[in-house]
Amino acid sequence: METLGIDIGFGFTKATDGKQDLIFKSVLGEATDIQFRDEMITVEDDGVNHLQVEVDGKAYFVGELAERQSNVRFFTLDQAQFIGKFAKVFALAATAQMVKGFVPVNLVTGLPIGSYRQYKDELAKLLVGEHKVTLINGDGKREEKSISINKVRVVPQPFGSLFNLMLNDLGEMGDKRLVKEKIGIIDVGFRTSDYTISDKMRYSERGSRTTDSGIARAFNVIATKLRENSGINVELYRLYEAIDRGNIKIRGKEYDLSSLTEQVFSQLATSIANEVDRLWVDDWDIDAMVITGGGGAVLAKYLKPLLNGVVMTTDPELDMRLYNVHGYRKFGQHLWARGNTPPQAPAAPKTD
Ligand SMILES: Nc1ncnc2c1ncn2[C@@H]1O[C@H](COP(=O)(O)OP(=O)(O)OP(=O)(O)O)[C@@H](O)[C@H]1O
Ligand SMILES: [Mg+2]
Repeated sequence: METLGIDIGFGFTKATDGKQDLIFKSVLGEATDIQFRDEMITVEDDGVNHLQVEVDGKAYFVGELAERQSNVRFFTLDQAQFIGKFAKVFALAATAQMVKGFVPVNLVTGLPIGSYRQYKDELAKLLVGEHKVTLINGDGKREEKSISINKVRVVPQPFGSLFNLMLNDLGEMGDKRLVKEKIGIIDVGFRTSDYTISDKMRYSERGSRTTDSGIARAFNVIATKLRENSGINVELYRLYEAIDRGNIKIRGKEYDLSSLTEQVFSQLATSIANEVDRLWVDDWDIDAMVITGGGGAVLAKYLKPLLNGVVMTTDPELDMRLYNVHGYRKFGQHLWARGNTPPQAPAAPKTD
């Protein structure tokens, strides 16, 4: 039995089986017939997959392919719509790429704190069971997959990051300190910011909340400015690279984004720090805070100096968008696969 972690975010869908990671934008598009499939000149692999799937008899382009090629694109920041129309396609598109043959899988996935209670059963029900999914590659070759999802566990999203810090790859308790401490987690995503507290591994309702302080809020301000200046409505999910680079070219004209970005990111970080202060006002005994999520990576330099407390350092090598999903998979190992994994050679002792 394989254990997969899948994090279906408003910005990106992330998946891992512990060996390979997968990330694509949470954008769906109508599948169109691309009549000229070959690249005109072979360029180096730009990392963009041809991700085309058929689920429940409907054909979709998914992620970057939808963004580039679909005439009609669907993208939502509404939770009910996201669960109703998108989540299943994203989860199955990810699973179909991860699983080989007919191996049944167990899934761990998550929901924002604020929608956890309302949607957790619905999400699990959407995913569990048998699914026929067809993957169509860049050459038009079809591969039918029978996906059998055995068990699904839904957790509050930011707990993924906590499990990731706490458990090792086999799902065993690695960092025992975290189990005994009070940890505050700040997960800044594309649409939402999720806050939660783990107090000696117990979930604190009082310290947990979802707000709209995601990166999209900052992107919105930048998109509005661009619309005023250029007349073009740039979709939010097309802004990341430009903002990262500091400029964008629209109809041949370059717009500088760096100073506006500085300003809106530091404003967003201030709102997040204020939300943390208010939410955790009675939790002055927090031992450490963790900043996570892809938005966390982007905002960390603005946010860290504003937080009143110790901020844990996280592995700078790993793409922070993947923190939750890695934790989901480890938690799945913890729940279902402990003891079934062949023992590994002990790690070489550290010499320094
Ligand atoms: N390499 C990268 N490519 C694209 N975005 C990145 C990258 N690194 C960090 N980011 C940031 O990550 C953000 C998305 O983070 P993340 O994947 O955690 O959100 P999400 O889980 O999809 O959203 P939500 O939690 O609101 O559902 C983007 O808005 C962007 O600012
Ligand atoms: Mg997220």
